[in-house]
Amino acid sequence: MKLPFAEPYKIKMVEPIRRNTRAEREKWIKQAKYNLFNLRSDQVFIDLLTDSGTGAMSDRQWSEMMIGDESYAGASSYFKMKNAIQEITGFTYFLPTHQGRAAENVLFSAMISEGDLIPGNSHFDTTKGHIEYRKAKAIDCTIDEAFDTSVDHPFKGDIDLIKLKAVLENNPKEKIPLIIITATCNSSGGQPVSMRNIKAVSEMAGQYGIPLFIDGARFAENAYFIKKKEDGYADAGIREIVREMFSVVDGMTMSSKKDAIVNMGGFIALNSETLFDKAKTYNILFEGYISYGGMSGRDMNALAQGLYEGTDFNYLDSRIRQVGYLGMKLREAGIPVQFPFGGHAIFVDAKRFLPHIPKEEYVAQTLAIELYIESGVRGVEIGTLLADRDPVTRENRYPILELLRLTIPRRVYTKNHMDYVAAGLINVFDRHLEIKKGFKIVKEAPILRHFTIELERL
Ligand code: F0G
Repeated sequence: MKLPFAEPYKIKMVEPIRRNTRAEREKWIKQAKYNLFNLRSDQVFIDLLTDSGTGAMSDRQWSEMMIGDESYAGASSYFKMKNAIQEITGFTYFLPTHQGRAAENVLFSAMISEGDLIPGNSHFDTTKGHIEYRKAKAIDCTIDEAFDTSVDHPFKGDIDLIKLKAVLENNPKEKIPLIIITATCNSSGGQPVSMRNIKAVSEMAGQYGIPLFIDGARFAENAYFIKKKEDGYADAGIREIVREMFSVVDGMTMSSKKDAIVNMGGFIALNSETLFDKAKTYNILFEGYISYGGMSGRDMNALAQGLYEGTDFNYLDSRIRQVGYLGMKLREAGIPVQFPFGGHAIFVDAKRFLPHIPKEEYVAQTLAIELYIESGVRGVEIGTLLADRDPVTRENRYPILELLRLTIPRRVYTKNHMDYVAAGLINVFDRHLEIKKGFKIVKEAPILRHFTIELERL
């Protein structure tokens, strides 16, 4: 018999979670104003809200926590993190920040001005938020295939070179301070960007003299997909692929809460000394001195160790197989999901799941609420609520896709948990025609509204 696949780790510490009843969940979600962010974690059985900062650290990472150096300046933990970043990414300079959006805040303060255009592949919401906060514009140049969940394309995170060229050709160079590739591309479904595409974008950026950055929150998962899917990379090591990806760009922003498997942390890494010097000042202003940037020494130690573990093939293989296992169970049941499966989550196509609910009633949010009521599983809406209003017209922006994201934390849940999630969603699917109405907004913030929005049942 062929030996089956199994996780390359065993569990040393457990945290209890409690199942609850449907009646309790109906009461709690109403009290939470139908916003899943407002639920208390003990009202959730399986939490698939995010893979950000929710991973399980290893015994090595916890040991590193104990030997963190908390000196304000020049701490050994800083150098440990610096060495790990240099070894893994190849960039010369780095600035620690407390998380990914802080890295965006610091970098964009140094690079983006009012009226600028920043092309990319479906920028993540905080990236877009930080661009729009500066009265600049994020331009989505993702390939069209990404917006049809039923189309099979190996790299749905790729940038459409024709769309990108049109932006570069039709606007003055001074208006485009940088291009951002998000790898993997969270908003399109944790979809990878191919090495070929990264190199082609890099070449085009070079021709126009525009810096190219990678939003690398899930860079290791991206490298895994390149190894698995792209011609010529089957025998390459993950770290080798990572170095190659970063060798053709000018820098990166990082939310270490993802692929560095820590609960908090981030950084900027780059090659330009001039830009580093400029960003340094903002780092001190917003984050802290440049040798800690909002992180404690122990966190920097755990992050450094996490970067090595997060770029280990066997770890990545088990992680992405687990996500794929959930995806396969849902697909086998006929549930429409973004295909091929992404790296960190399964994205359920809510418009195809609930075709009778109009977009004005927030389809993906409706599905997320139904799944919670059915099973106690908390997913997250990646749809109209997240897309916010147009900053100028204040009209709702209706994205092409309305998605329910089931985000899998790293090294946290078992195969039985995945079976439970699948059963919960299949039950909702079986009764989807009984879901007659969606929701309306009763209160919202002017930017990043989904976190605090309040809804009412129609
Ligand atoms: N870039 C990407 C691609 C992200 O997915 C995130 C966060 C960030 C930047 C911002 O990083 O949270 O450390 O400030 N994504 C989380 C998510 C929140 O749930 O997908 P952060």
